[in-house]
Amino acid sequence: MEDLIRVGDFTAPQKAAIDLEFACHTPEEAGRDAALRASVRGFLTRSNMKLSTEVLETLPALRIIATSGVGFDGIPVAWARERGIVVTNTPGVLDAAVCELGVGLLLALLREIPRADRHVRTGAWRGGIYPLTTGLAGKRVGIVGLGRIGKGIAERLLPFGPSLAYAGRPQAGIPFRHFPDARAMASEVDVLILTCKGGPDTHHLVNAEVLAALGPGYLVNLARGSVVDEAALCDALARGTLRGAALDVFEEEPLGASPLLDLPNVLLSPHAGSATHETRALMLRMALDNLHAVLGGGEALTPV
Ligand code: DGY
Repeated sequence: MEDLIRVGDFTAPQKAAIDLEFACHTPEEAGRDAALRASVRGFLTRSNMKLSTEVLETLPALRIIATSGVGFDGIPVAWARERGIVVTNTPGVLDAAVCELGVGLLLALLREIPRADRHVRTGAWRGGIYPLTTGLAGKRVGIVGLGRIGKGIAERLLPFGPSLAYAGRPQAGIPFRHFPDARAMASEVDVLILTCKGGPDTHHLVNAEVLAALGPGYLVNLARGSVVDEAALCDALARGTLRGAALDVFEEEPLGASPLLDLPNVLLSPHAGSATHETRALMLRMALDNLHAVLGGGEALTPV
């Protein structure tokens, strides 16, 4: 069986499934075993990992880094390209799951579903009715990053009756209002949804200035924690200049001690966009198929 280095969040059944196809090792095991380092050709990772070139450089035979995820901001892609190492991801198969979570988070944020649940559960209802919330119908929603996931969210939101806009590169045939950038769009919408790529190009794209332009509105981040200046976000939420935020991603994951935990107007999700049994199975299959294809001497199925 071909050796493979595997890192990142995989469930026990997924690990067992991978073990049927590859002999899996950790980077620590490879660090202790010169023969393994010299021979290993495949590396499997997940979106929650940041791969260091220091570790990768110790693997001279490396041919492919496959991520079981669509984002590849944790992989040194330019470094890999220079060395002829293929990087693959799993586009498409996770779109529906991420879109579903996005719509769910937005509705839960506007209608305050988790807080309302606590109102009933704690008996507070007997002391008074829950305050009124706000709806999605008629809201102006702006999407930053109108790729497959951004478009999928737009399609799913339309029946709820918001008006839609997007920021970024203008695209032909898109019937929504277009803005050149997030800053320009923020002052014209009530809700900003982030579905753009992570990485240096979008680092802190949503900063204090954008949040001030958005306020008093709502932010939903399904992209990457790095896209939002989290300190500025906490400040805007604490001061109430921004009404609320729903976050599936964070600057540091897993989220540790953070002011976000004490803010009542933020909804937190553990980077779970693609985290359904069905979707993670499809993602893993695609990642493994990429590994088999490249290690078998063929072309990658979904190179980045
Ligand atoms: C990805 O695949 O990059 C998404 O963040 C879901 O895990």
